[in-house]
Amino acid sequence: RLLGVVALDGPSGTGKSTVSRKLAFALGATYLDTGAMYRAVTLAVLRAEVDPSDPAAVAGVVRAARLTVGTDPEGPEIFLDGSDVGREIRGPEVTGAVSAVSAVAEVREQLVAHQRKLIGEALVSPGGMVVEGRDIGTVVAPDAGLKVYLTASAHARAQRRTAQDVSEGRAGDLDRTHADVQRRDALDSGRKVAPLRKADDAVELDTTDLGVVEVLTQLRKHVECRG
Ligand code: C5P
Repeated sequence: RLLGVVALDGPSGTGKSTVSRKLAFALGATYLDTGAMYRAVTLAVLRAEVDPSDPAAVAGVVRAARLTVGTDPEGPEIFLDGSDVGREIRGPEVTGAVSAVSAVAEVREQLVAHQRKLIGEALVSPGGMVVEGRDIGTVVAPDAGLKVYLTASAHARAQRRTAQDVSEGRAGDLDRTHADVQRRDALDSGRKVAPLRKADDAVELDTTDLGVVEVLTQLRKHVECRG
């Protein structure tokens, strides 16, 4: 049986992106980073100098934005209006505004439709697709063959995010990152539309004390059980 979609959800700093990409590569699957899509449209909102807390204005910008999304786990991920924005979307400006933009119902409608289209295209290939985000198991792909919900302590998540910032050439500030991780958790879990939550049928994996290799081993075991 084809596994189809592997849904990986959870808050930021759980190692989700790293393990999703690696899992996709190991399975010969394609890969979709839905967080990158919310980040890219947030960049469009910031570039348009629209207030991220004005839902109608935000929705208008997002409707006009041309988003091209790569699905190769090793490839460049995302283009906005023709240019690669993979780096810029990880910066503090986008990170600071993305939760407000992704709470707008019409933004989610547009991006979920886009995500389902990409998933539909990917599923014609036998390797399936690893999709990471916040609402993949609950909203985007409720029929996923395997759903995993990654967690980790807020401290561990802040440490990982800070290490990632430093390794990618940004300033690393543990206290600020800790505060940002908690702020985004509260916004993402508390919003009305598609809040961050574990699907009832998702496997929960706490990565606080696990390295990437250990998380991957666990995930591959679950894939083997379901596949
Ligand atoms: O995963 P990442 O940290 O890049 O996601 C950035 C933000 O995008 C999250 O904090 C959340 O507000 C939003 N997001 C979402 N739904 C998804 C993926 C991301 O609302 N499926």
